[in-house]
Amino acid sequence: MTRHDILIRHATVIDGTGAPRRTADIAVDGDRITAIGDLSGHSAAREIDATGLIAAPGFIDVHTHDDRILFSDPSMTAKVSQGVTTVIGGNCGISLAPMPVPVKRPVTPPLDLLDASGDWYRFPTFAAYVAAFNATPAAVNCAHYVGHTTLRAITMDDLTRPASPAQIAAMQDLVAEAMEAGALGVSTGLAYPPAIAATTEEVIEVTRPIAAHDGLYATHMRDESGHSIEALDESFAVGRALGVQVLISHHKLAGEENFGQSVQTLAHIGAHRADQQICLDCYPYEASSTILTASHAKVSPRTIVTWSVGAPQMAGRELSDICAEWGCDLDTACARLIPAGAVYFRMCEEDVQRILAYPPTMIGSDGLPHDERPHPRLWGTFPRVLGRYARDLGLFDLETAVHKMTGLTASEIGLAERGELRAGFMADITLFDDRTIADRATYTDPIQPAAGIALVMVNGAPVWEDGRPTGARPGRYLRRDRAAHKMAAARPAG
Ligand code: ZN
Ligand code: CU
Repeated sequence: MTRHDILIRHATVIDGTGAPRRTADIAVDGDRITAIGDLSGHSAAREIDATGLIAAPGFIDVHTHDDRILFSDPSMTAKVSQGVTTVIGGNCGISLAPMPVPVKRPVTPPLDLLDASGDWYRFPTFAAYVAAFNATPAAVNCAHYVGHTTLRAITMDDLTRPASPAQIAAMQDLVAEAMEAGALGVSTGLAYPPAIAATTEEVIEVTRPIAAHDGLYATHMRDESGHSIEALDESFAVGRALGVQVLISHHKLAGEENFGQSVQTLAHIGAHRADQQICLDCYPYEASSTILTASHAKVSPRTIVTWSVGAPQMAGRELSDICAEWGCDLDTACARLIPAGAVYFRMCEEDVQRILAYPPTMIGSDGLPHDERPHPRLWGTFPRVLGRYARDLGLFDLETAVHKMTGLTASEIGLAERGELRAGFMADITLFDDRTIADRATYTDPIQPAAGIALVMVNGAPVWEDGRPTGARPGRYLRRDRAAHKMAAARPAG
């Protein structure tokens, strides 16, 4: 075939495997890449001159809370403007699906991070969510976990207790249904109040049905501060008990007294990777973000409110300023603000860089798309890794940076025929300028598209071009492919 739908000419190809860049043309027919190489004798209905641009596989955002925004704002501008073509949702124990009973209102934090109104908790089964997505897709592909905290909210009246055997059995049925419908696995958020009371045994039993599907256990660990090693051990124990792969979500060390301890946590992860399947992700910022609680705020030297139901006008303000303005202490201010969200400055740059540079670490934004003044990671994560960390600071080369957000991720999650630019693979492609790529979203001005992303294609259809969304909605729900995962796991590390 020498006549194609689309020809990308003279691109500098970084193929996602970590291999060095090369100059090549890329042909796209329908939803697939059909040829890569010197295609000077070929023609196409549409030709794109990529001289001076990098062509990379579309980025995979391995940690998101995009379950609802895929429906409520399917252009997914915060993501496609960064070159993201696939998002993985249902993280940190909270998934929008399933919700077979009316959700309790007000919506229990942190379930309110996805939808404070409760109106979007409308998918009675995981299959109903997948069917709805495929009927009205978004601009990007997606795949989700089923969240343990969501399951607890469905099956338990008192979230301050461990689940009873009957409640565990009910949650297992929901997990089994979700896995049949295409869930990647189970996620937990054991640091959050509605899941803190869950014992390790509860987590193992609830998660058990994923073993038959070779699913993933993704965890926002019980502790990311002074007890990180114990929390890692608990996560590994769940994986070992079930024989499943473990994903440590947004690995970080919070709290000044724990700064530098990524040396120990990464060594611990590395030692256990010899015996069981463990992977991890990270976002490239020193501040975290989640719901506002007084206990978090007390140990955070600086806190910014990202949204508030109690005092909506305070979104974007420093908590210390709010206390001063109201003439009250932190507890009183938090009580008036909640339900609310916050950015906490609790990590150090040295740990962030050490975790980012660790070869097995994948890139995930953990962006919170419904926050009024979101953490800048929502709009900036991927260009920040490519611009600030690869180009400006030289933390790793661009090929490695791209691998951490494409090929590595596709192989760990098991996304077949994605994550690499290769003939026969799906045409998820991002064209960017490596001289200008940069995140522009900041803590004070967080809703800013990145610089340097020229064109983004999902399943062969451009979704971002000339600095704006095209309106196309070519996304698909993706399933974990055991063969794709095993093949990549067997491949020697490059
Ligand atoms: Zn989390
Ligand atoms: Cu998260």
